[in-house]
Amino acid sequence: MSAPAAPPGIERVLFSEEQIRERICEIGESIAERYRGRDLKLIGVLKGSIFFLTALAQRIDIPIKVDLLGISSFGARKGAPGVVRIAKDLDDTIEGEDVLLIEDIVDTGLTTRYLLQTLAGRGPNSLAICTLLDRTCRRIVQVPVEFRCFEIDERFVVGFGLDYRQLYRNLPYLAVMKPD
Ligand code: IMP
Ligand code: MG
Repeated sequence: MSAPAAPPGIERVLFSEEQIRERICEIGESIAERYRGRDLKLIGVLKGSIFFLTALAQRIDIPIKVDLLGISSFGARKGAPGVVRIAKDLDDTIEGEDVLLIEDIVDTGLTTRYLLQTLAGRGPNSLAICTLLDRTCRRIVQVPVEFRCFEIDERFVVGFGLDYRQLYRNLPYLAVMKPD
């Protein structure tokens, strides 16, 4: 069975399936070490982070609960920071729980800061951030990223959950797009 050819908009693979799998194993072990003896709730942000959340959860060897949050951001340009609001709320409360917010990418930090503030107001026992990609060079607001798989530079990235106009989320690798 051969892998499907890269779609036309893709310039090159940035992190392969294998590299992503290895990093996720390492991060999963670090998370399990940190939270051992406690139950951990992973909160995924729809839609980008569900691919990462699924792969990561299977690599964390402690009891895990999962809940999902849907956001709408108004800023449809490539990577443009926008105003964020919650479009689909969590199913359950997080009061007294150890919560790990799972992000696809922390870019300007605006989305993550909004989510952190919202979740912190609900009284979790602890609240931390785990992200697949971290682009610190574009940070506008500082957010404490506890666990990260990869640091990246300016170039717009798709795959493994990350989209460009809702496409490319299903690529099993992370790739750089061709410039416009
Ligand atoms: P923020 O700028 O940290 O608020 O990130 C907002 C959102 O922009 C992220 O959750 C992603 O959905 C999107 N985003 C930022 N950079 C990229 C990228 O390189 N590829 C795909 N989506 C991105
Ligand atoms: Mg997006």
